[in-house]
Amino acid sequence: MADKTVDVIVIGSGIAGLMTAHLLADHLNVMIITKSNAETSNSSWAQGGMAAAISPQDNWQKHLMDTIEAGQDHHNYSNVEILVKRAPEMVKKLLELGVPFDRSSDGSLLLGMEGAHQERRIVHVNGDKTGEAFTKALLKAVKERVTIADHTQVYELILNNERVVGVKTNKEIIFAKTIVLATGGLGQLYKHTSNVKEATGDGFALAYRAGAVLRDMEFIQFHPTLLAATGTDTFELISEAVRGEGAKLIDDNGKRLMEKNPLKELAPRDVVSREIHRALSVGKKIYLDCREIRNFAKRFPGLSDRCEAFEINPKYALLPVAPGAHFISGGVQTDSVGRTTVEGLFAVGEVACTGVHGANRLASNSLLEGMVFAEQLVKHILSQSFTLHTSNQLLLTVKRKDSTFVDLPSKSEIQEQMTDLVGIERDKQGLEQMKQWLQPFLFTASQVFDSDNSDILERKNMVLIASFITEAALLRTESRGGHYRTDYPERDDNKWMGRYLLSSKKDGLTNVLEINNSKVASTSL
Ligand code: SIN
Repeated sequence: MADKTVDVIVIGSGIAGLMTAHLLADHLNVMIITKSNAETSNSSWAQGGMAAAISPQDNWQKHLMDTIEAGQDHHNYSNVEILVKRAPEMVKKLLELGVPFDRSSDGSLLLGMEGAHQERRIVHVNGDKTGEAFTKALLKAVKERVTIADHTQVYELILNNERVVGVKTNKEIIFAKTIVLATGGLGQLYKHTSNVKEATGDGFALAYRAGAVLRDMEFIQFHPTLLAATGTDTFELISEAVRGEGAKLIDDNGKRLMEKNPLKELAPRDVVSREIHRALSVGKKIYLDCREIRNFAKRFPGLSDRCEAFEINPKYALLPVAPGAHFISGGVQTDSVGRTTVEGLFAVGEVACTGVHGANRLASNSLLEGMVFAEQLVKHILSQSFTLHTSNQLLLTVKRKDSTFVDLPSKSEIQEQMTDLVGIERDKQGLEQMKQWLQPFLFTASQVFDSDNSDILERKNMVLIASFITEAALLRTESRGGHYRTDYPERDDNKWMGRYLLSSKKDGLTNVLEINNSKVASTSL
């Protein structure tokens, strides 16, 4: 039987994957592979919106400053510049695709406010349904032009002479000239998350097994406000835009939680999340008070519906909240055009680490990153000629499990351990405990077999990624952005400024010092 081939495989159907496919589809034969259906992704759940400096008093320099400030100076500065400069253009592209942005009565785009932004600059759709609208518009644009393989799980990237040449899925083997990872994040490693259930970090694990370098894995962003309604374990996101419109965080005595912080509820997410986490740990309850927001149901229709389902009326009642895993600022290391360290393999969106988020992502910069770096990547792909390698040149073996492999922990066990030991607050003792707990599973998790079912594969991926996060968190003896060590509570620029932690199969965990983003030293640890 002839090999199945396409020009480009995009793994993942969030904004980054869809935008990549959309921009390539007129030129190349593109296939999107997604493990559930194309409508389900973290992007489609995004509520807040997309940041773009488009108001008369705003400019890209201010957007850049806010991005750097939130991410605590741990960025790739030239990539941040690309991100913020292209933002207004991305709004235009979305308008061309028919995205019905919310507008004021004079027809101008309504701009929302979110934490750590100095200006109103968040464009949004139907209040808090922005991600859904972007996804819909892009899906419509690609529908007739790309092949979508849904309910298809990628088990492995196929390598030939250290180049990625195809994918092995639960259904078939497909070869391509270029493979793009757009698999999103890993929120499911934690007990509470704003992420979809598919976000088990598969892309990071696929890339690692293929030899790619991962970077900054210790920087996990916890969103301060998930709706912690009684009667459910699945806490859903309450957009930061709700605090942007004036909602306050209060404790069970009505005391304002963020009273002492000059930015109040709009302080960076790591700061607000820690405050809530500390209050919850001593048995307090924390609520979001939205009672003063006018036209709540119109501005936040999605949240209104969810509140109604829990019989909470935000006009009169307080919303119980808890923080949850939301985003990873690190990921598969890429350059400004999405190239990973493995030939033939690109990454874009949350799975990639372009360095634009530093140690902590600024609100509403993630849809933007997906769009802008998809455009960067596509320009690069179209400027190159890639060769197709098929199984004629390869010896593909069917791999089967043997008896040396151990049973893996369940997803909920991994989530419990990660939340308790590698969560919002970390310390040496807990991180070492986690490292020891993971140790017996690592050999099994590092290899994938044709006989693995989808649940086993996800658990392997979760174990593997948990170990990268734990090891990097143990090594970074400071607190910065999404990485907070109670035993090293300060940012330590003397030791850690410009230092990035990398993990790869070949070199293990390494420590790289970059000055102005050019590498000056690399040490094994
Ligand atoms: C939110 O609406 O608070 C989430 C948006 C984001 O993470 O940027």
